[in-house]
Amino acid sequence: MPISENIKQAATGASFIRKMFEKGAILKKEFGAENVFDFSLGNPDMKPPKEFEEKLIEIIKSEMPGKYSYMPNAGHLYVRENIAKKVASEQNVDLTANNIIMTCGAGGGMNVILKTILNPGQKVLASTPCFMEYKFYAGNHGGIFETVAGTEDFDIDIEAMEKKICKDTAAIIINSPNNPSGKVYSQETINKLAALLYKKSEEFGREIYLISDEPYTKIIFDNNKVASIFDKYKHSIIVTSYSKELSIPGERIGYIAVNNGAADLQELLAGMILCNRILGFVNAPGLMQRAVGELTDITIDPMVYQKKRDILCDGLRKIGYEFIPPQGTFYLFPKCPGKDDMAIVDALLEEKILVVPGSGFSFPGHFRISFCVEDSTIERAMAGFEKAFKKVMEE
Ligand SMILES: Cc1ncc(COP(=O)(O)O)c(C=O)c1O
Repeated sequence: MPISENIKQAATGASFIRKMFEKGAILKKEFGAENVFDFSLGNPDMKPPKEFEEKLIEIIKSEMPGKYSYMPNAGHLYVRENIAKKVASEQNVDLTANNIIMTCGAGGGMNVILKTILNPGQKVLASTPCFMEYKFYAGNHGGIFETVAGTEDFDIDIEAMEKKICKDTAAIIINSPNNPSGKVYSQETINKLAALLYKKSEEFGREIYLISDEPYTKIIFDNNKVASIFDKYKHSIIVTSYSKELSIPGERIGYIAVNNGAADLQELLAGMILCNRILGFVNAPGLMQRAVGELTDITIDPMVYQKKRDILCDGLRKIGYEFIPPQGTFYLFPKCPGKDDMAIVDALLEEKILVVPGSGFSFPGHFRISFCVEDSTIERAMAGFEKAFKKVMEE
């Protein structure tokens, strides 16, 4: 047996995003990249803010000692101090550098958290639609990932969540603004979730952690507000990255912030710092820590994505697609027109338009359009969106 059965299954299993990526590569080779409309990946191609590259150049040119050296496993102290101040003001709580651990993006951070908290067989829950990499992240550390069906308007169904939480539930993951729906959970939803988690923690005599995966909080439209969680639920952990807000997904930089009120705080932090060292990626990239640590007030301009959203929504609405406009992120999650889920995805593919079916987010009946592309790509794709719509409606 050459490789592990688990990995063999996972590697050959249905990743819709990967399948679309492969189909896209074939189409691009045949017709040229400019003639394929790739809305499949959440890979922002917007340039980072100019301050980011200016800061990098400043750091590279500086004579600071130990510029490229190893650092404390949690990350450079001054970087964590700056980030702690920012998160404290956003979350209405007190935090210090001790609450912050620099990580290899949100993906690295999520693995650090789950490795630290999970015992074999313990469960991690998320409301659908959701980012399905969580399943692998939980599985990496002996956990079991389970989904709870969200409501038709992509909110958390608190009653359904209540039924699913059991004595083995170690954590709930939330993601707002949400990939793929663009939903921003209201403060009311967060308050209800917090009340449920306090109740269930008491019932089972063990605190359930709330993990908030927040890489899109700065890509927010129409003056929406992302609800704070630290002042609503003590046993909470934020994990996030600069991949989307600074448009630097390849640079692998993010952080974990742990609430001061979290159960077993010191053990939790010590465990996470150890995991940040032993998971294999060994801490977060040093140069990137220094850059983001001094740019805590800089983000890409969310209005650029809001404009793309409006071009896309206006165009699709005129054709007849049904959807809830996203309140944040760069994803739209329309209903599938036509007889079944794959009909529209296949019809769009014929028009050289790549999207991802909702099953890839445990929410069939919808499909995801990732609009972090040029405005002109969205505009040029409209004719294809129309042809595909008509085709599936006639079938
Ligand atoms: C919801 C969600 N969480 C986490 C990640 C991972 O992001 P990172 O690049 O910070 O690892 C992504 C990336 O697309 C995402 O959409």
